[in-house]
Amino acid sequence: MKRLGILISGRGSNFLAIADAIASGKLDAEIAIVISNRAAAPGIAAARERGLHALVLPSPGVEREVHCREMIGELEKARVDLICLAGYLRILSTEFIRRFPLRIVNIHPSLLPSFPGLEVQQQALDHGVKFSGCTVHFVDEGLDSGPIIQQAVVPVLDGDTAETLAARILKEEHRIYSEGIALILSGNWRIEGRRVLGA
Ligand code: GRF
Repeated sequence: MKRLGILISGRGSNFLAIADAIASGKLDAEIAIVISNRAAAPGIAAARERGLHALVLPSPGVEREVHCREMIGELEKARVDLICLAGYLRILSTEFIRRFPLRIVNIHPSLLPSFPGLEVQQQALDHGVKFSGCTVHFVDEGLDSGPIIQQAVVPVLDGDTAETLAARILKEEHRIYSEGIALILSGNWRIEGRRVLGA
């Protein structure tokens, strides 16, 4: 059984969607460890309630390299096959990213390469795009810049606020993140340049 390591900072709804996909048999994997860099993250309480190995490694005031090294230690101890960032809001160190090549994935609430970074839905509204969506991608050393694994599109409606758009996108995030993870774990893919293709 493939082992997932999940990194969160907050609400944890994507983590819970992954846990639900596993519970319902849609995703053949197990969650080996959930790490939050914030003690107050609601997602970490939810992980504990589900009886998962849940760890808080606080990052505020801790140097990036030091914090990431702690996470590397825990993830390796937990023998994870794939690391899933799920609303993890801190940049990872170069050492961390190089330690797990093509083994770290992220979900981002826009159609990358449009609108990387934060306050993504507001960026989309301000730009006036008519469609937005979400992207599952590999994590490389850039900001939201790694090869794209999966995307879903949603319309931007005239009456949208950042909140209503975020809610529409989040529903799709919950669906495609598990699908993207399942594809990567299946090994039925190859990478050509930036393109993630079926094997
Ligand atoms: C999601 O919108 C995700 O795309 C972004 O951060 C948010 C996390 O939400 N990276 P949650 O913690 O998974 O509920």
